[in-house]
Amino acid sequence: MTLDLASLKESIEHALSQHLPTTSAIAPGLVDAMRYAALGGGKRLRPMFTCAAATALGGDLQRALPAACAVELVHTYSLVHDDLPAMDDDELRHGKPATHIAHGEANAILAGDALLTLAFELLTELPGLAAEQRLGCIRTLAAAAGWQGMVGGQVLDMALPERPSEAVDIQCLESLHAAKTGQLIRASVLLGGQIAGAQPPVLEQLQAFADAVGLAFQVRDDVLDVTGTTAQLGKPAGSDAQGNKHTFVRLLGVQGANRYADELLQRALDALAGLRLAHNGLQQLAHRAVNRSY
Ligand code: IPE
Ligand code: IPE
Ligand code: MG
Ligand code: MG
Ligand code: MG
Repeated sequence: MTLDLASLKESIEHALSQHLPTTSAIAPGLVDAMRYAALGGGKRLRPMFTCAAATALGGDLQRALPAACAVELVHTYSLVHDDLPAMDDDELRHGKPATHIAHGEANAILAGDALLTLAFELLTELPGLAAEQRLGCIRTLAAAAGWQGMVGGQVLDMALPERPSEAVDIQCLESLHAAKTGQLIRASVLLGGQIAGAQPPVLEQLQAFADAVGLAFQVRDDVLDVTGTTAQLGKPAGSDAQGNKHTFVRLLGVQGANRYADELLQRALDALAGLRLAHNGLQQLAHRAVNRSY
């Protein structure tokens, strides 16, 4: 069965808007910045992965949506901070001024903080799950987002430009990408599995799928930074070269990186073999994550 990704994306955007605050007596500007960052575009791949994993394994979409929103809020916060002058110093995101340009640097930092904490608040309220299952979901997202996951990866991403090219091999780059990007994609898929009550062997297969997709996704992101235009990407093309970043394109060239992304996509699809899935949403999303033009 084919999963309708367009209507899933709409459901996610509706839920996101519902979960975000609309007013604040103490900090209205903060709420504006949070909504600006979270509702201003984006492919919504991670929350779609959560919903697709949950429903493919027989879980309920309404139960998956709050967890899907939690992942997207963490992703949004990561982009708000990633664009700051202290990090990638990029002024455009989703075809609009980055949050720190539109709302000021302090508000952008604080909006990021608030999006991150809101994500965990949502997980404590996950509907229809036992308290222990909720704790498991909180642990999954916390581990992926934190010092050993996305945040750790961002530190490595900023530290590596100091190293000469010959000191950065494919393994080094893979561990960077696995941490800064892969971990959150892994969490998005695993959360779906956890919400559907999947057993450890199934979760292991989902993890193998997600890890291959996550790496392929970031390899493709590195390629697009070189081959895409700013108008097409909605974020500044050439940002990696500007920041002297170590990327898969720098290591393998555009063709080599594209070939590697294709190989990883196949590895991801193979990882799902043998699973009884109610629809092909995970496969569709894997293709979308890798074969994208922005
Ligand atoms: C961008 O992720 C950041 C990376 C991890 C490369 P996406 O390309 O998924 O961001 P949006 O939300 O769709 O813009
Ligand atoms: C960002 O990677 C990854 C995170 C925000 C965790 P990039 O710096 O490559 O993302 P873009 O290219 O700015 O979207
Ligand atoms: Mg970055
Ligand atoms: Mg960046
Ligand atoms: Mg990039």
